[in-house]
Amino acid sequence: MKQKLLSVLSLVLFSQAFAQSDKFYATTDSENAKELKARFPQEIEIVGVSGNQSAIFLTKNAAEFLHHNVVTHGPGYVYKSSKEEALSAINKTKKSNKVLAFTIDQNAAVASAIAKVSADNIKAHIQVLENYGTRHHTTAKAQTAVQDLKTKWQNLITASGRTDVSVRIENHVGTPMPSLVFTINGTTAPTDFIIVGAHMDSITNNTNNAPGADDDASGIATISEMIRVLLNINYKPAKTVEFMAFAAEEIGLVGSSEIAQDYALANKNVVSFVQFDMTNYKGSTKDVYLTTDPYNSNDLNLFLIELMEHYNKTGSHVFTYGNTICNYGCSDHYSWAENGYEAAFPFEASFTQYNPNIHTTSDKLSNMGNSATHAAKFAKLGLEFILETAKGSILATSETANTSSVEIYVKDKNLNYKLGKESIENLTIIDTSGRQLLETQSILPFGKIDLNKLNNGFYLAVFKTKSGKVITKKFILE
Ligand code: BES
Ligand code: ZN
Repeated sequence: MKQKLLSVLSLVLFSQAFAQSDKFYATTDSENAKELKARFPQEIEIVGVSGNQSAIFLTKNAAEFLHHNVVTHGPGYVYKSSKEEALSAINKTKKSNKVLAFTIDQNAAVASAIAKVSADNIKAHIQVLENYGTRHHTTAKAQTAVQDLKTKWQNLITASGRTDVSVRIENHVGTPMPSLVFTINGTTAPTDFIIVGAHMDSITNNTNNAPGADDDASGIATISEMIRVLLNINYKPAKTVEFMAFAAEEIGLVGSSEIAQDYALANKNVVSFVQFDMTNYKGSTKDVYLTTDPYNSNDLNLFLIELMEHYNKTGSHVFTYGNTICNYGCSDHYSWAENGYEAAFPFEASFTQYNPNIHTTSDKLSNMGNSATHAAKFAKLGLEFILETAKGSILATSETANTSSVEIYVKDKNLNYKLGKESIENLTIIDTSGRQLLETQSILPFGKIDLNKLNNGFYLAVFKTKSGKVITKKFILE
């Protein structure tokens, strides 16, 4: 991460946005802010404090100290383009423990979508993005890459003949590179947004050689494949669905923080945001690693677990999941969480085992050791997430609800259940980190399960039927 700091510094030195002053606004942990203030009283001003987050105005020298000495991983702060932005970022009250009213009933649509995901498409697209040589946010190549992606997405829209789908450029204050936004208007709930993101820029210590194949061509190629599939099945979502290719993530989440801020200021109802940043290096035994940083949404993570339990446990699209933690605002999902939205970040590996080549000139497809089969799992998860949260219809048919054959409720720390026609082989209780806490083998048609050993919180009950179907039910212990 040191090379990146050099790039951050060169941005600070050369970028027009910063030319007037050596200092810039950021947010950081309040403890970090105090520590810095004690050490460099002249170089940092704490302009606001809200709980454990502070808004600061600091020199690049103080920022460098923070990066190298105070935090263990990452820059240690989140860049903000103005004092107002820094102040409003720390004053956002995060909706915590909100229960998202998500259900799983789009079996037919999901089945046809995930069967269409092509690892070859993803692989080919990663190669195209790598071939720019660099997508560093200050370069002309980055501009071209964004324009070309716009053309690629526009061509898919044109071929579909649809008028309810569009793509737009978003320009920024903090970087010359634009972001790209692809929108499918919702049919019945168009003011509710389901957003999926990835970042388009790359970084190394050499501005002109930053292939960024895994970080994050893999994420862009993954979301592009989702777009292709959704148009292919003529998906008409009830909620508005957006895909975002963010600019300048690598220098401090610049593109996403400006867009998330705009959405929050406009009071847009972003129901959920999921980020795909690094999807194609299988560094660990499991496949998808949900990040459980405190700013992420527990409930959204649990829903992603529910989706994988439902769609990826058996059948032709099996993959596994685990959990890990970033320990800082490590990608664009943080910008959305900071603005009070429910955000998640499913990652390619555990944090001790991710692609060792990122942020170097070796971050190439040829060094990833697979043919985008890893990324394809993320495209499937992304499609499951979109189809089940934004609902709607595919082709001409509308979905019939999947009437679940288990009823549950929680009372006095007991899980009461009643089975329908299906006989159940086993029941597993899973927490928001994906840990299996309880497994019961022989299940009577109705009864209760003692949950006194479990802490309060959100859980998932997974019933596996004798015929191999998986029925999931979420519950809260309080
Ligand atoms: N893809 C990385 C984030 C990442 C790296 C997550 C390794 C998990 C493991 C991302 O592009 C990145 O480099 N982010 C910056 C943070 C940002 C605020 C500048 C980082 O991690 O330093
Ligand atoms: Zn990245």
